[in-house]
Amino acid sequence: MINTRQDYDYWDPTRKGFVTNYPNFPHWKRMTAEQITDGRPLNIYLHTPYCIQRCSYCYYKTVNLENSDRKDRMARYVDALCREIALTSDYYHLKNRPVISVYFGGGTPSLLDEAHLEQIVGTLHDHFRIETPEFTMEAEPVTLSSAKAERMMALKVNRISMGIQSFNDAIIKGSHRLDSERKALKAIDIAKGTGATINIDLMSGLAGETPETWAHSVQRAIGTGVDSVTVYKTELYSNTAYYQGIRNNTLELPSDDEEMRYMQHAMEQLQQADYLPWSFYNFTKRGGPIHVHAPSTFRGDDCCAFGISAFGRLDQWLYQNTNDEQKYIEQVAAGQLPIQRGYNLTSLDDMIRDVVLSMKLVSLDLAWFQHKHGFKLQSLCAETLDRLTAEEFVSVTDDELRLTPKGILHGDYTGKSLARSLMSHY
Ligand SMILES: C[S@@+](CC[C@H](N)C(=O)[O-])C[C@H]1O[C@@H](n2cnc3c(N)ncnc32)[C@H](O)[C@@H]1O
Ligand code: SF4
Repeated sequence: MINTRQDYDYWDPTRKGFVTNYPNFPHWKRMTAEQITDGRPLNIYLHTPYCIQRCSYCYYKTVNLENSDRKDRMARYVDALCREIALTSDYYHLKNRPVISVYFGGGTPSLLDEAHLEQIVGTLHDHFRIETPEFTMEAEPVTLSSAKAERMMALKVNRISMGIQSFNDAIIKGSHRLDSERKALKAIDIAKGTGATINIDLMSGLAGETPETWAHSVQRAIGTGVDSVTVYKTELYSNTAYYQGIRNNTLELPSDDEEMRYMQHAMEQLQQADYLPWSFYNFTKRGGPIHVHAPSTFRGDDCCAFGISAFGRLDQWLYQNTNDEQKYIEQVAAGQLPIQRGYNLTSLDDMIRDVVLSMKLVSLDLAWFQHKHGFKLQSLCAETLDRLTAEEFVSVTDDELRLTPKGILHGDYTGKSLARSLMSHY
C-alpha cells in the first residue's frame, strides 16, 4: 500500500509543499497505454430469452416459443445479438481485452440450433480477444441431444449448467416442465460425455415436495457424479404461476421452515459425499474452484452483456438492456446500443457491492478488499463482525471472512448485515 503521508506532512499553515498530484509521482511506475485499457480481464454474458415452456416457478423474463414461428424469430434475434456484439466491441474499444469467461444464459440457450450457435461464437471471435476462456452454456435436459452436445464441444463450450430442479416425475410435471427423471439422467450422461465441467441445479421448495421426494432428488444428484450441484431456494415472484396459485388459494408451497430443513438436508448429504460449499448453495467436488464467471463478476470485474434484459458492468457503470424484444431488434438494427437503464457506482456503492456479492462466494479475502478499497473491512465493520461471529454466522481470521454452515443456510443475511454497517459510515 502507498504511504504518502510524508509528502503531505505540513500541518502548520505554510506556502511550502505545493500539491501537484496524489499519490506523488515518485510512487508511479513505468507503464504503457495498453496496460490501461487492454490488460484488464473481461467477462461476457449472452442472453437468449426463449424456452419451450413456462415453468410455474420461473421468474425470468422468458418467451415461450410456439413451433410455428420458432425458426424465424430465433434467426432475427441471433442476427440482432451478433450486431450488438460488433457494435459494443467497437463503441467501447474492447477488441484487445482478454476475455476470461463467456456465459450463455437464458431462458434456454441450448434451444438454439447448431447454425445459430456457430454464428454467435464466430461473431464473438471476430470482435473480441477470445483465447481459451471458460465457456458456459445453460441447458434444459430435453433440449440436449447428442448432436447438439457434439456441436457445443466443437465450439469449445467447456461448462454446461443444467436445470434439473427435481428428480421426481410428479414434481417436474407439476412445474410444467417437459423433463422427467429418465430424460434428465440421459441428458446428464450426454453432457458428461463432452468432457465439459457439469453443474446441475436443484430447487428446494417446489410444490409437492416432501422429505422423501427431496431426499430422492439429492441422492440422485449425488449419484450422477457431476462436478457441482447448485441448490436454489425457491423465490416467489409476482410474474409466476406459483404466485397466482398462492393468491387464488389453489397452490401450497413448503413453508420457509420446511425449505430451510430441505436445504440443511442437502448440505449435509452433499458434504458427506465430499461436495463442499464453494459459492452460495453451490457444492463442488472437494470444494474446488471450478467456475470463473460468477466469482469474477461478483468481485467487480467487467462484464459485457448482450441480449434483451441482459445486465453488465463496465468500469463503474452498471447497465441493463431493454427487455422489449422488438425494441431491441430495432435499436440494434439502427446501430444503437440497446441500453435501457444504468447506475454509476460511487466508491461506497462499489465497496458494498463487493462485500455483498463476495459473500455469495462463501469467503472474502480481506487482503484483496484492503488492496482494492484502501480500508480494512475488519475495522470498518468491527462491531457487526463481532456480532456475526458471536451468533456463529461467520468466522474471521487475519486472512479471510468465511461463512459458517449457519451463515450459508441464511443466504444473504451476512452480506446484508455488512452492507448496513458500511452504509452507516456514509
Ligand atoms: C435460466 S434457468 C436454467 C436453464 C434452463 N432454462 C432450465 O430451466 O433448465 C436458471 C435456473 O434458475 C433457477 N430458477 C428459476 N426460477 C427460480 C425461482 N423462482 N427461484 C429460485 N431459482 C429459480 C432454476 O434452478 C434454473 O435452473
Ligand atoms: S426454468 Fe428455465 S426452462 Fe423454465 S421457464 Fe425458466 S428459464 Fe425457461
